[in-house]
Amino acid sequence: MKVPREKTEKVKKLLKKLEIYDGKRRPRRTEDFVFLPVLDPDKAQKLGLEVVGIDLPLRPERQIYKNLEIVLQKKLNPEEMKYLRRYDIIGDIAIIQLPPELKHRKMEIVEALLTVHPFLKVVAVKGFHRGAFRIRDYSIIWGERRLTTVHKENGVEFKVDLSKVFFNPRMKGERYRLAQTVEDGERILLMFAGVLPYALVIARYRNVEITAVELNEDAVRLGVENIELNRRKLKGKIELIRGDVFEVVPKLPAFDRVISPTPKGVDALSLALSKAEKWLHYYDFVHEKKIDGFRRRIIEECRKLGRDCSVQVKKLSDYKPHVFKVCADVELR
Ligand SMILES: C[S@@+](CC[C@H](N)C(=O)[O-])C[C@H]1O[C@@H](n2cnc3c(N)ncnc32)[C@H](O)[C@@H]1O
Repeated sequence: MKVPREKTEKVKKLLKKLEIYDGKRRPRRTEDFVFLPVLDPDKAQKLGLEVVGIDLPLRPERQIYKNLEIVLQKKLNPEEMKYLRRYDIIGDIAIIQLPPELKHRKMEIVEALLTVHPFLKVVAVKGFHRGAFRIRDYSIIWGERRLTTVHKENGVEFKVDLSKVFFNPRMKGERYRLAQTVEDGERILLMFAGVLPYALVIARYRNVEITAVELNEDAVRLGVENIELNRRKLKGKIELIRGDVFEVVPKLPAFDRVISPTPKGVDALSLALSKAEKWLHYYDFVHEKKIDGFRRRIIEECRKLGRDCSVQVKKLSDYKPHVFKVCADVELR
């Protein structure tokens, strides 16, 4: 859809609401217009705006996935192709899902992955997250017997050990978005810091002071190594505290901005809000029908602290049917 620049956000919101926005593709911008990707041109036309027949490029991660599909189309039948799921590349490790319907095609899938990503050294199947540290179970199906690697993202490098720490490469765009929102000079609290992906990306772009808190000893060890690994690229400073957020944070002063990539099942909202002077970015998992209730709860918690706030809730990814990983951007007054 060809949309005047100033109307972009409004139209995009409407297209998403109508479920005809094609999030797998990238919009194209000119000086006066933005071309938004739509799934259903006929429906879009009825909204009264111009629909033009141009092919917008797939987002890079989707393009990679498409490339794998193209290779596998020669090896799998159409019924089997339906079971293919999205996969992730972390450093030189491919993390895939292998539904029972595709178990007998394991080696074809590995071969196709190696064709698309010749640098791979390990292919592992992902299991579920466990415990408070949110570590996933993996089973290695090809290559070296290791889950340690160095992953590059947003101009920084992270050393990870997937058998001991949490890491989600799909939050790359989210980390970039946050880094662009932050301003030089801010003091930032990062709760549940992990191996420091958020802290490092923000400190790479902005001259800020970040205090990060993490309980998992292995994540802290890797976090310290990651600060060293990126030292020359960082504009900002990072202090990493090993400890329980619920014991450490109450003793800290307030910060300009608080970021909480909250582990699933943990409620740290009131603690995070109590330490935020201007901004809070609070991550949680919320059923689509409860998003409005989640917003109202944040406003209510602000009131309890004698503060006024505005809240925008952004859906980031689908966690399971109808449940989304969301980020609440809270501006405090
Ligand atoms: C969802 S992960 C996010 C990690 C990191 N921010 C990232 O995005 O890669 C949550 C992190 O919180 C840590 N964690 C869990 N409970 C904690 C607590 N009570 N205090 C501090 N860290 C905790 C886990 O070890 C894990 O690294």
